[in-house]
Amino acid sequence: MKQTSPSADRNRGVIRDRLLDLVPKGARDLLEISSGTGQHGAHCAPAMPNLRWWPTEHDAAHMASIAAYVADCSSANFMAPQQLDVMDKNWPAAVQPETADVIVNINMIHITPWKACVGLLRGSRRKLGADGLLIMYGPFRQRDVETAPSNEAFEVWLKSQNTAYGLRYLEDVAEEAARHDLLMCEVVAVPANNLIVVFRAK
Ligand SMILES: C[S@@+](CC[C@H](N)C(=O)[O-])C[C@H]1O[C@@H](n2cnc3c(N)ncnc32)[C@H](O)[C@@H]1O
Repeated sequence: MKQTSPSADRNRGVIRDRLLDLVPKGARDLLEISSGTGQHGAHCAPAMPNLRWWPTEHDAAHMASIAAYVADCSSANFMAPQQLDVMDKNWPAAVQPETADVIVNINMIHITPWKACVGLLRGSRRKLGADGLLIMYGPFRQRDVETAPSNEAFEVWLKSQNTAYGLRYLEDVAEEAARHDLLMCEVVAVPANNLIVVFRAK
């Protein structure tokens, strides 16, 4: 059954529009990690008919929701969901496509332990071809930028759920990404104090 996330409803338009700018025209395979309800893929895939959008999820209930959105999608390039846990060291070999041109990860690294971010970065480099892009969306902290009050309040809520959760410093994510040969190449500010961050595979 299709699930609905109010935040996905709010941000899917901005995410689609920015992805249309950022995803290279020749990209053929886009792997989405932590697709949640499936709303982002359902909204974006029809706007990108030249590539296949491969949704993945960790959570079984979300898998069923994504499958319902895929079944209802007017566009055949929204592929069936695959199970993927970024903390599984073998995830790059376990999911299709064999090589991705682009990986998209929306709103995951603040609501998982830091080792999920490391697993995402490590595995993404193995999954991407040369010059492939990892595009992340979500709230971040930045060392030289004051954090918005709404994000400070969100951090309090995240920590109340699990002390291992929390907004990540962009600088820490970029440093970890560089260890995995992913170089931060673009940061785009988007509404509601979120960022879109682009990493390019070396
Ligand atoms: C806040 S939701 C975001 C979902 C969706 N991307 C969105 O923006 O609506 C965080 C997602 O991370 C997923 N997740 C949690 N741990 C994960 C893991 N170890 N590997 C992959 N995904 C994970 C959850 O199942 C959930 O769908």
